Amino acid sequence: MDSSIAATLLLKLLLGSVLPTASADRNGISARDIYEEMEHILVDNKGTNSDGLVNAITPCSNYINGDDTDGEQSSAQWVRIAFHDIATADVAAGTGGLDASVGFESNRPENPGLFINQTIGFFNPDVSAYVSMADMLALGVVASVATCGGTTTDIPLRTGRVDASAAGPSGVPEPGTDIDTTLSSFAAAGFDQSEAIALTACGHSLGRTHYTNFPDIVDESYVTTDNTDGGQEFDSTPAVFDSAVVTEYLDQTGEKGGPLVTTTNETQRSDFRLYNSDQNATIESLAASEDSFQTQCNTLFAKMIDTVPSDVVLSDPITPMPWKATDIGLDISSSGSVSVAGLIRNLYGASESAASSVSYTYTANGTNSSAVETTGSAGSGSSLYGTTAWYNFNTTIESPGTTALNINSAISYPINVDIFVLPAKSSTNTRSGTVTLYAAALSNIATDSDTMTATFYVATSQTGSRANTVTTKTVTLTESGAAGAYTLYTASATGLSSIGDVIVKVSMGDYASQTVKTSIFG
Ligand code: HEM
Ligand SMILES: *[C@@H]1O[C@H](CO)[C@@H](O)[C@H](O)[C@H]1NC(C)=O
Ligand SMILES: *[C@@H]1O[C@H](CO)[C@@H](O)[C@H](O)[C@H]1NC(C)=O
Ligand SMILES: *[C@@H]1O[C@H](CO)[C@@H](O)[C@H](O)[C@H]1NC(C)=O
Ligand SMILES: *[C@@H]1O[C@H](CO)[C@@H](O)[C@H](O)[C@H]1NC(C)=O
Ligand SMILES: *[C@@H]1O[C@H](CO)[C@@H](O)[C@H](O)[C@H]1NC(C)=O
Ligand SMILES: *[C@@H]1O[C@H](CO)[C@@H](O)[C@H](O)[C@H]1NC(C)=O
Repeated sequence: MDSSIAATLLLKLLLGSVLPTASADRNGISARDIYEEMEHILVDNKGTNSDGLVNAITPCSNYINGDDTDGEQSSAQWVRIAFHDIATADVAAGTGGLDASVGFESNRPENPGLFINQTIGFFNPDVSAYVSMADMLALGVVASVATCGGTTTDIPLRTGRVDASAAGPSGVPEPGTDIDTTLSSFAAAGFDQSEAIALTACGHSLGRTHYTNFPDIVDESYVTTDNTDGGQEFDSTPAVFDSAVVTEYLDQTGEKGGPLVTTTNETQRSDFRLYNSDQNATIESLAASEDSFQTQCNTLFAKMIDTVPSDVVLSDPITPMPWKATDIGLDISSSGSVSVAGLIRNLYGASESAASSVSYTYTANGTNSSAVETTGSAGSGSSLYGTTAWYNFNTTIESPGTTALNINSAISYPINVDIFVLPAKSSTNTRSGTVTLYAAALSNIATDSDTMTATFYVATSQTGSRANTVTTKTVTLTESGAAGAYTLYTASATGLSSIGDVIVKVSMGDYASQTVKTSIFG
């Protein structure tokens, strides 16, 4: 084992708490922030501080970009786009995989339909320095399988994927592709024959083939006022992630395996060729029981989303966190007294209930403060993983000296009182893309030659893909006063128009602050 990983594990044991990730920091952003933002998108489904992503495909039959009568299903699109992104991976060469290169490939004949731009367009607001589009594509698969009735927790969701800046090679298998070519592209992506068969059947448990995309496969009679794109289901339950696709194929009942088994032009029967290529052995194993289908599919979906370029380091799987703090920010009074504030979240199960307040401490110079209680509720929410209760916190901390914030004796966060952004004093004008930034640093860490700089991480649009990409902008701050042991700094930054989150950190010499979202600015 790598010694830094061993050290992290040891630290976890010593702290007795979740230090959730073994993956590297990325581009100046801490792996823990990346992990906790992804946990937020996965878990905070409804209510206070929610991210609407999972809720948007609840129920699983929802179509986000149009009407119920279009014959389209967003959850199915989210699963299909992940496959089309990884289908051209070359694991031997260590290239391709889940890297959002599919965003540059929406006009290829092998990618018919609106699924690429609709999915990416919907995921875009969540892309930030913390979460890549490729991580969002992974989350999309996990969320779809969860809301469509599979198991909520059995596909491990890791973070750390890096977005490609250009298209990858073409070669996604198509309905007319011969079996040898299809199996060799799956093999290049790391899936042997049996895995290729199973992964395809797992994917085709959801959704449809559409007349609008494949008029040579789906009969025009499928186009009706209730199904304007002419979607023909793969199985009788296109909005339930279940084994019906394989049992109906074997029994020749219901949809009989769907259009890619039954279409009149035999050349286009790619599912039949694939399923039959091992004399139905893999399909029979999937059909052995519902549990067998779910277990095998979860394993293969996990393998699919973890197919990444060889230089990508994935985090440990996300575990929904019973306790966490978010939007942590520091402020300073005119006399130099430092406070820390933010939100605490408790995630709890059906047999538990929310506490009326939560106690927390801070650690300064190796000693924990006496406990501070939150006052009042900051809201509540619901999740696939339980119920959430939210609490505001704000307390004065010792400075210099404070190093950690400890929530309910359950989890600790590092606090850096040497140098920090001042969210309560800073402000944003999202329309003009202007940020007025304030920051503080201990006066004794600055030398005359040091300048205080801010790095803004901005999600911006790019050419060729609808996916936002994160660019950085650096500005220099100037001194604006003093408060106790601290010097205050400010800068005005322009040109930061963004669809998603802007994230900022300040640094001076060897010192760098923690990152904060500008969305928490006053
Ligand atoms: C030989 C391999 C495969 C071929 C030739 C193939 C082909 C197709 C075709 C022609 C469609 C219809 C798309 C439309 O009209 O909107 C489709 C839909 C779909 N595919 Fe595949 N597929 C393959 C493998 C996979 C795999 C491995 C997955 C995922 C693990 C997958 C997931 C899906 C899903 C979820 C849909 C439904 C999309 C929707 O309803 O919008 N497919 N596939
Ligand atoms: C069947 O599909 C193949 C592959 O797309 C195509 O070349 C051929 O013309 C089709 N045959 C008929 C009879 O439509
Ligand atoms: C596989 O199952 C399909 C559907 O029931 C059937 O048409 C086909 O003949 C089977 N293949 C073999 C080799 O038994
Ligand atoms: C904590 O509360 C005080 C008093 O309302 C406020 O001035 C300060 O900005 C808050 N601290 C933070 C970090 O937001
Ligand atoms: C805590 O440590 C800091 C230096 O990190 C020091 O300036 C401060 O005086 C210490 N506070 C106490 C109470 O010992
Ligand atoms: C401070 O509190 C945290 C969280 O409850 C605990 O893990 C840690 O051991 C405590 N540290 C000290 C020095 O008591
Ligand atoms: C998807 O969006 C990209 C970037 O905006 C654009 O270049 C491409 O043509 C779009 N593709 C489709 C199928 O509309």
